[in-house]
Amino acid sequence: MTRTLITGGLVITAADELHADVLIEHGRVVALAAPETQEWTADRVIDASQKYVIPGGVDAHTHMELPFGGTFASDTFETGTRAAAWGGTTTIVDFAVQVKGESLHAGLNAWMEKADGNCAIDYAFHVIMSDVNETTLREMPKLIEHGVSSFKLFMAYPGVFFSDDGQILRAMQVAGDAGGLIMMHAENGIAIDVLVEQALARGETDPRYHGEVRKALLEAEATHRAIQLARVAGAPLYVVHVSAQEAVAELAAARDMGLPVFGETCPQYLFLSTDNLAEPDFEGAKYVCSTPLRPKEHQAALWRGLRTNDLQVVSTDHCPFCFVGQKDLGRGDFSKIPNGLPGVENRMDLLHQAVVDGHISRRRWIEIACATPARMFGLYPQKGTIAPGADADVVIYDPHATQTLSAETHHMNVDYSAYEGKTVTGQVETVLSRGEVVIDQRKYVGHAGRGVFVPRGLCQYLG
Ligand code: URP
Ligand code: ZN
Ligand code: ZN
Ligand code: ZN
Repeated sequence: MTRTLITGGLVITAADELHADVLIEHGRVVALAAPETQEWTADRVIDASQKYVIPGGVDAHTHMELPFGGTFASDTFETGTRAAAWGGTTTIVDFAVQVKGESLHAGLNAWMEKADGNCAIDYAFHVIMSDVNETTLREMPKLIEHGVSSFKLFMAYPGVFFSDDGQILRAMQVAGDAGGLIMMHAENGIAIDVLVEQALARGETDPRYHGEVRKALLEAEATHRAIQLARVAGAPLYVVHVSAQEAVAELAAARDMGLPVFGETCPQYLFLSTDNLAEPDFEGAKYVCSTPLRPKEHQAALWRGLRTNDLQVVSTDHCPFCFVGQKDLGRGDFSKIPNGLPGVENRMDLLHQAVVDGHISRRRWIEIACATPARMFGLYPQKGTIAPGADADVVIYDPHATQTLSAETHHMNVDYSAYEGKTVTGQVETVLSRGEVVIDQRKYVGHAGRGVFVPRGLCQYLG
């Protein structure tokens, strides 16, 4: 029998902050007690005095090993989930990709194989639908039964992942009927491709033009269109990686009407801007992702959206490409820079910094980073909270430590940090995944293959 006791910490969930001791048995939380009132015995006692005891992070948007832009995202499931653990994230939901002409199940099986035996923490999958047709539509309810209850569609990337409005409507109808959730990459890719071509013809090839052609209005337009299509289909909608204030306004208007419409943003949109994209000597390529970074003025709308619950989730969209050898592919043509930023290790810390800076409360930190992503994607209360019966995915977090984010010290398999030199207050100290210590006072003691696939239930977006 393995019993672990965490004593003396401040337990923070989306619902409560309380000084409590936490008892863990057989990989699950079994009880909480007021400090010094219990007489529990344990094989292992972790002293969390002066520390926070928080649920492990749930990152609902990662792309380990994603084939994209002529290369592969540089973190494997092994390196990426280890880095996630270092950063206090104990569950990722990654995206299995359907190859055009093949089935959704084939895509899921391929990603299951990539992850199997390699993960340091637990994982689940969404499916990217590259090809909405009779066959793939019929597969959707079956995937939901197999614990894959969400599907990403793209209004961007014509010729790659793009779906037209008719395909989107049909997928939404099926998802709505079957209890699934459509996740939307909302950018008008057809219009953007015209602007890309025109920019390149003018000789505008630097990374900063990536931000200029992928206009905020074209994110807002696609967001608006996705909302109307979801309304017509009678389906819920989750818009991924929202970056434009105009898109937040579309979500807020829909929510004011009572529609089941949800939005995710990412740390890069909250902390970085077009100033980074404009860095000289091609350094801006480090910050090329889609939706793109926006001018700083957009950040206030994102923070406000997180406070007003017009945005519900912060995920990373972790999709790392090395500066040397990968981002390089787009020297002389910004449209060839592989899209994506590293960040799976930094999310919990950056959002804690947002608590320190006064943007959000401590409970809201846990809500947007742990509890709501778990609910939204059918993992709650197994994941995302500290309560009797929940998996003992627990982080001992030191809110007083300071650290400087850097590629020198991070654990992601990528040769730069998007936050190089940024000092933040707060640091992960110890991490438990299903009761097993995987980070022990800032030493990695986990191993590849201990993380398991977690089949998800239906999206609990209303509860
Ligand atoms: O630039 C990004 N976001 N790359 C990952 C793929 C996607 O669209 O999420
Ligand atoms: Zn026992
Ligand atoms: Zn996307
Ligand atoms: Zn993504």
